[in-house]
Amino acid sequence: MIEQFIQVAYILAVALFILSLRWLSAPSTARRGVLAGEIGMALAIGATLLNPEIVSYRWIFIAFVIGGAIGIPLGLVQMTAVPQRTALSHAFGAFAATLVGTAEYYLEVPKIAHFMMFALVMEVILGSLTFTGSLMAAGKLQEVLPQRPITYRGQNFVNLSILGAAILIGIYLIIHPEASYLFPLIVVIPLVFGVLMIIPIGGADMPTVISLLNSYAGLAAAAMGFVLNSKLLIVAGALDGSSGFILSVIMCRAMNRSFTNVLFGAFGQVQASADAHEDRTVRSASPEDAAAILESASSVIIVPGYGMAVAQAQHRVRELYDLLTRRGINVRFAIHPVAGRMPGHMNVLLAEADIPYDKLLDMDEANPEFPQTDVALVIGANDVTNPAARTNRLSPIYGMPILEVDKARTVMVIKRSLSPGFAGVDNELYYLDKTLMLFGDAKAFVGAIVRELSHAQGAAA
Ligand code: TAP
Repeated sequence: MIEQFIQVAYILAVALFILSLRWLSAPSTARRGVLAGEIGMALAIGATLLNPEIVSYRWIFIAFVIGGAIGIPLGLVQMTAVPQRTALSHAFGAFAATLVGTAEYYLEVPKIAHFMMFALVMEVILGSLTFTGSLMAAGKLQEVLPQRPITYRGQNFVNLSILGAAILIGIYLIIHPEASYLFPLIVVIPLVFGVLMIIPIGGADMPTVISLLNSYAGLAAAAMGFVLNSKLLIVAGALDGSSGFILSVIMCRAMNRSFTNVLFGAFGQVQASADAHEDRTVRSASPEDAAAILESASSVIIVPGYGMAVAQAQHRVRELYDLLTRRGINVRFAIHPVAGRMPGHMNVLLAEADIPYDKLLDMDEANPEFPQTDVALVIGANDVTNPAARTNRLSPIYGMPILEVDKARTVMVIKRSLSPGFAGVDNELYYLDKTLMLFGDAKAFVGAIVRELSHAQGAAA
């Protein structure tokens, strides 16, 4: 009876995981997606705890308390720190797979079937390299480690040889599972590989790498499912693995980069020299000027970016949206797929500020609209608006699809300085005749425009 109950709970959990992924892919259903994922996970854990094979709950309880003590503060980090937080949770999940795999091996050796050994080898190799790789990625994003790619001649050869050695030992172990003296090597070598793999990758590529590591952690969990004979883990791991992979593909496409370029391209190294800052002039304007220009527009597209997230300016942006729409101005938002620091970053912030979903345009919808738009108001976005991606073959971001704000009649850019964005390259947009720079913190500057517009409205009433 209890066994049947557990199986039904597992099926429900899997259905909820699938629905969760489906719902998470659109802003209007994302909250429901999170809830479905949480209920699915609670069901999966609850049903597993009912398993009659459990002999004692003591260690489970201790692990639960320690995990909760680490997990709850981790869940409360700022939105901008979510990529590194995600990397840390992959690291823990992957390390758990390595530990479980190691324990299973020493419990079962020498009577391990070849297929089981194959799953064990996959689990342990992927788990170990994901563990150190994710810790390195989190360290780079948190800037505890240098963001700059560190490269040397023959690095790819050295790295791939190290991984190749682990794979060869793994194959030997699949054929001869009893060769237990070799087992520690398929834990230690991938741990070293995980560190070496991240060293040549620049901070700018970390979100993509984290998404790829997410898929490795998922595959390690699926392999663990085969080892532990858990269908739930196999399905959940496969969902995690494939969704992480799809996300990395989407991110690579949005940056016009290939996987090999992300993993071996040492992106971020050439930028400083390739884009030496020249002494060119820009036109700047005050909040009063900006308010007057916005007031006389009939269509405005707001382009949010990482700076809006850092400044937490989304609620001020909502006030600006309200004031402008009340004046009959058509205000919409253009969302670049890699604006900010994680997929969906801008959607989440704008949803938090209750901006109607139908006012959000994705890149393909927004680009044909810019030539007919009076004002493109860029708030803390930089790389995703850089026309050099279209025009400058030498630029490291050449070929990246961008939001073509430079085609709007007037462009206004809110940022604090002329400093480059995440990719470290200068932005051609700022030097155009039609561009006005609005220097300041996004929240303070949008707040000042809102005050100007409110005064004007108050005076008119
Ligand atoms: P960025 O190019 O990183 O530019 C953000 C700009 O915000 C900076 O130039 C900065 O200029 C400004 N800023 C920072 N704090 C601010 C504040 N308090 N108020 C106003 N402005 C502020 O951002 P983006 O255009 O959103 O592009 C995202 C970048 O991340 C791309 O290069 C993308 O490839 C990369 N990336 C994103 C993802 C995902 S999934 N989103 C994944 C991988 C890589 P100042 O310092 O002058 O203020």
